[in-house]
Amino acid sequence: MEKYLEMISAGLYRFVNGQLMIEDVYAEEICKQFGTPVYVYSANHIKNQIRKLYNSFKKSHPLICYSMKANGNTKVLELIKKQGCGLDIVSQGELFKATKLGFSPKKIVFAGVGKTEQEIAAGLKCGIYLFTVESVEELKTIDKIANRLKKLANVTLRINLDVDVDTHHYTKTGRIETKFGMPQEQVSFILASRYDLKHVRIKGLQFHLGSNIKNSAPYLSALKKLKNFLRRVDFCPSVIDIGGGFGIPYKDEEIESVQQFGSKISDCFVENFPGVSMVIEPGRFIVGNAGVLLTKVIYKKQTNVKNFLIVDAGMNDLIRPALYNSYHEILPVLKKDGKFLKFDVVGPVCETGDFLGKERVFPDTIDSGDYLAVMGAGAYGFSMSSNYNGRLRPAEVMICGKTAILCRKREKMSDLWKYEC
Ligand code: LLP
Repeated sequence: MEKYLEMISAGLYRFVNGQLMIEDVYAEEICKQFGTPVYVYSANHIKNQIRKLYNSFKKSHPLICYSMKANGNTKVLELIKKQGCGLDIVSQGELFKATKLGFSPKKIVFAGVGKTEQEIAAGLKCGIYLFTVESVEELKTIDKIANRLKKLANVTLRINLDVDVDTHHYTKTGRIETKFGMPQEQVSFILASRYDLKHVRIKGLQFHLGSNIKNSAPYLSALKKLKNFLRRVDFCPSVIDIGGGFGIPYKDEEIESVQQFGSKISDCFVENFPGVSMVIEPGRFIVGNAGVLLTKVIYKKQTNVKNFLIVDAGMNDLIRPALYNSYHEILPVLKKDGKFLKFDVVGPVCETGDFLGKERVFPDTIDSGDYLAVMGAGAYGFSMSSNYNGRLRPAEVMICGKTAILCRKREKMSDLWKYEC
């Protein structure tokens, strides 16, 4: 477990005298001060990840548009903005929050297969950098609304290059049978100006292959396909957006280092598309391992078939294990001695799929009242949480060095019915 901690955080998470620390704060203190379940984010981890991206991609000098769906907490976004990043957004809600927090519209790209007229108008009015267009009908709609608002819409066309990636079936987006992007023939038809749209300016192309991709190979293959495509259609893009999807380790596993990953993609990009601007849309890479979900054991339940640790965080707080069978490392907040046994770590929600980890090893001395840390919970953790089973969304806390600040309050009972009438 030490090797894994070192690998994900270069010392930001560590055990000191058997106690888990997040930056310079004891995890147990956070549990006691803010209650559990609680999401905790390391500010310095976020900064480090962004610095690593800038370094590894320095040759292609991309605009980093952080994919805010991964974690849209205000404090997280403010920190990311300070590092010079823009945003990848997918709704008017995200646009509203982004502009309210002062992100420059010139650094906002707007993706998503189902942008409504209202959302398109909102994007046009605030002058976002690019719409990532996912269908012919959407392109025509953008043209119509831009005409109505007397604006010129800058767009990239999301091309589906039919590139497969090694990730969960639900998070592959580069295959031709998914709902994302447009097939090459359609993009080529659009580029040949067959639709005669006067209020859109096609600045370039975008692809997004999927999420949690552990090596650069699929990106290189997509760039090659894109190069061949562009040669055939005789179109010179001024920008190419290679999407997000950069993977992170969730356990002690070897994955391509970010230095390798970024430099290989950058080299390939600069060689094949000289002078073209690059956009990247990382989400998970920036915040995934910056977040930990702290939870308390409510009961230890042992039968002659299974041992369970029933904890106070469930699938409504972190749905990734239930939805994608994702692996999250689960560490004790205080190490204990004892005979090691396997436990399923499960939540209180009334679903058999409500688990955080299966067959995890803990000492038999572990008990109700003990705290656990579910690692790698910074991306698609809180942002996919819900009130299922009448459960309140947890608090969120940001750690920076020795300080821990509350950055979202735990929900309260009356929040559960505040919109009902
Ligand atoms: N750009 C686009 C167009 C996207 O759809 C996404 C993520 C990203 C960028 C950022 O991808 P990332 O760098 O975070 O992999 N809930 C799933 C992941 C869904 C990703 C959706 N799109 C999970 O928990 O694994």
